[in-house]
Amino acid sequence: MNKLIIPSMAIALMMAVPCTTQAQRKVDKKPTLAIKPTDKSKMKAFIDELMAKMTVDEKIGQLNLPTGGEATTGSAVSTDLESKIKAGQVGGVFSLTTPDRVRKTQELAVNHSRLKIPLIFGQDVIHGYKTLFPIPLGLSATWDLALIEKTARIAATEASADGLNWAYSPMVDISRDPRWGRISEGSGEDTYLGSQIAAAMVRGLQGNDLAANNTLMACVKHFALYGAAEAGRDYNTTDMSLHRMYNDYLPPYKAAVDAGAGSIMTSFNDINGVPATANHWLLTDVLRKQWGFKGMVATDYTAINELIDHGLGDLQQVSALSLKAGVDMDMVGEGFLTTLKKSLQEGKVSEADIDRACRNVLEAKYKLGLFDDPYKYCSEERAKKEILAKEHLDFAREVAAQSFVLLKNENNVLPLKKSGTVALIGPLANTGSNMPGTWSVNADLKNTQSLLEGMQEVLGSNVKILHSLGSNLLEDAAYQERATMFGREIPRDNRSEEALIQEAVKTAQQADVVVAALGESSEMSGESSSRTDLNIPAVQQRLLAALLKTGKPVVLVVFAGRPLTLTWEQAHVPAILNVWFGGTQAAKAITDVLFGDVNPSGKITATFPKNVGQIPIYYSHKNTGRPLAEGKWFQKFRSNYLDVDNEPLYPFGYGLSYTSFAYSDIKLSKNAFSAGDSLAVSVTVTNTGKMAGKEVVQLYTQDLVGSITRPVKELKAFQKIELKAGESKQVVFHLSAEDLKFYNADLQYVAEPGDFKAFVGGNSRDVKEAQFKLQ
Ligand code: BGC
Repeated sequence: MNKLIIPSMAIALMMAVPCTTQAQRKVDKKPTLAIKPTDKSKMKAFIDELMAKMTVDEKIGQLNLPTGGEATTGSAVSTDLESKIKAGQVGGVFSLTTPDRVRKTQELAVNHSRLKIPLIFGQDVIHGYKTLFPIPLGLSATWDLALIEKTARIAATEASADGLNWAYSPMVDISRDPRWGRISEGSGEDTYLGSQIAAAMVRGLQGNDLAANNTLMACVKHFALYGAAEAGRDYNTTDMSLHRMYNDYLPPYKAAVDAGAGSIMTSFNDINGVPATANHWLLTDVLRKQWGFKGMVATDYTAINELIDHGLGDLQQVSALSLKAGVDMDMVGEGFLTTLKKSLQEGKVSEADIDRACRNVLEAKYKLGLFDDPYKYCSEERAKKEILAKEHLDFAREVAAQSFVLLKNENNVLPLKKSGTVALIGPLANTGSNMPGTWSVNADLKNTQSLLEGMQEVLGSNVKILHSLGSNLLEDAAYQERATMFGREIPRDNRSEEALIQEAVKTAQQADVVVAALGESSEMSGESSSRTDLNIPAVQQRLLAALLKTGKPVVLVVFAGRPLTLTWEQAHVPAILNVWFGGTQAAKAITDVLFGDVNPSGKITATFPKNVGQIPIYYSHKNTGRPLAEGKWFQKFRSNYLDVDNEPLYPFGYGLSYTSFAYSDIKLSKNAFSAGDSLAVSVTVTNTGKMAGKEVVQLYTQDLVGSITRPVKELKAFQKIELKAGESKQVVFHLSAEDLKFYNADLQYVAEPGDFKAFVGGNSRDVKEAQFKLQ
C-alpha cells in the first residue's frame, strides 16, 4: 500500500537570532498538542448501544443534512424541518445560527425525537465569522502560519459562541488557474505551502479538544481536485494523471487529515470519469485505506442530486452509488432520505453501508461532546462578549495589512505623506459591503467601513481627502448586476463615462496624489464567478489612463479575489498595491500600509500571468525537451509563444517592501549527504533600506535527474523574518532526504540519489543557487 506522506517537518529552521513575528510569538506560547484523543472503546460502546436501538429509518435520518432555511425564509426553523427533526429524519442542520435559534432547533431533536440524538450545526466559516479576515488567498500571502492559525481560532471562538460546531473549512484546493473564481478561497498554487496552511487551519478551528465549547469540527474541502476544473469554469471536469494528483494536488487534503480534521467534503467535479461524490477509489481507497481517515464524509451542496446531470443515473441510483463510494452525510439534496430504504429493500445497498455512514455521523457528534451537552455551543453570554471583540478586530487589522502585496513602487511613491490632499477615486473607493470578500455570510455589510471612511477615520484632519467615483465597476449594467449580488453594493451612476471621468480628473487635479481604488467587486470571485478576461475592467482602465494623464503621482490599489493580468498597469502606473478583500478592518489596514504605518510584506501565492493565454502558469512546472535558452523569449522550434514571452508578470512568492533586502550567496554545510543525514543551507539576509521590514525567505530545490520528469523548482521551506534598517540575519534551513521525496511512476514515495540544486530568495524567480548531491 502506498501511503501519501507530506514532506515531513524534517526541515527544521534555525535562525541565528530569534525573529518570529508578533503574531507568531503570541500563538507559539499556546500548546500545540495533538487533538485530545477520544476514548475509542468508550465511544464504540456508546454508539453500539445507541445503534442497537435505531430503526433503519432513524439511521438514514442521521445522514440527512438540510438547511435551516435561514437564508430564504428568515425563520429559524421551517415547519417541514421541524417535523422531520421530530421524526428523527435529520442528522444536522446547515446555516442556522444564533444561540436562541440553535437551542430551539436542538430542543426539537433532544426533547421530541424518539432517541433524542442531538443535531450537528454547520456553516461556511471560511475566513472569520463576524470578524472577517482577508479572503484565504490573501491570508496565504502572509506566509505566516501562526497568524493564519490564530485567525481560524478566532473564527471558531466566535462561531461556536453563536451555536455552530462544524465549519465547512478549510478549503485546500490547489489552483493554478486564476480564471476559476474559487481560487480566492484557497491558498494558491503551491503544494507545500498549501499543505502547511491546511494543517494550520485545522489546528486553529479544532484547537486541541474537539469537545471544548469554543472549537469547531473542520470539514476539509473540496475533496478532490476541484481547483483543476477545465478552462477554469466552475464545477467543470478534472482529468489528471495519478502522479500529478499525488505529487501536487492531494497533499493539502492529506495534510489536513493528518492534522486531525474531523470531516471532509466531497467536491462537485468529475475525476477521470467518476465524479468525486460517487468515487469509491477516492473516498474509500485513498481517503480511508491509504490515509487512514476515521472521520465523517459529507457531500457538497446537493452534490448527490447533481450526479444525475453528470449522467450516472436517477436519484435512487446516484444515492446508492454515493453511499457505497463512502459518503456519510447528504447535504441538502435528501437523496439518501428519500431513496436509501428502497435501495436496501432492493439489495442495492446493504444495512452495513447504512450502518457505516450512521456510525461516522454519530461519532462526529460524540467527539464534539454533543451527547454530554447538546447545548454547549449556544451561549448568549459568550456570543455577546466574544463576537467582534476588540482584540479580534485589532488582530483583523494587523492581519489584513500583512496580506497586502506591493507589486510595484517606482521612485518610492509609497508610502504617502500624512499631509496635503489625496484624491481617492474609483468604484471600489466607497463600498464597505465589498470589503469582506466572498464567503463572508455573517458579515455586517452595512457597518463595514469603505476605504474612504477608513481613511477619513485614521487620517483625521491631517490629510484632506477628495473623492469621486470615476467610473462604474463595469460598462455592461447586466454584468455589474451579476457582480454585485448578495448585498455587495456598488450603485451604478447613470451619467456618461466621459462625465464621470471628467469629474474624477478635476478631483485629481486638486490633489497632490491620486489613489485609484480599482479592480473586481467581491462577487467577481468566489463560487460560480469564473472569468475569461482577467484585466481590470476596461471602463476602469480608461479612467486610470485619464488619471495618469493629469501628471499627478498615481497609486493603484487593486481589489481582487484572484491574480489579475495587470500588464498594462505594470507598464504605466508608478505604484501598485494588491489588497485582495481584506475583511472587516480592510479599510483601516489599507490606510496603514498606504501611509507607512505598516511596511507591506505579503508575497503572492499564485503566479500573476501577463495574459489569459498563458494560463495555466505556475512556477513549479516541468521543463520541456525544448526549453528556451537563458535570456531569450522567442526561439523557433522551442517551447514558447509568438506573441508573449513565457515569463509571468509577477512570479510566485513575489512581493516588494518599502525597504530592500540583499541576499548573500548560499552556504552549504557539505556538498553531499545521505539518507539519515541532513544538509544545512544558509544565507545571510540584510535589510539594505531605511525602514524596518519583514521578508519571506524561501527555499526551493530542483531534482536534476529523476526516474520521472521533475519540476524546475519546488518550495521546500520558508521563514518570515523581520529586520531593522541595516540589520543582517543568517537563515539556516536543514534539508533531509525526506524533503526530497516524491511519488514515482509506481506511486512509491521515494527520494532518488543524484544531483540537486538549492535555491534561496525572496521569490521563486530571483534566487541564489547552489548544487548538492544526495548519495
Ligand atoms: C460550496 C461549498 C459550501 C457549501 C455550503 C457549496 O455550494 O461549494 O464550498 O461549503 O455550498 O454552503
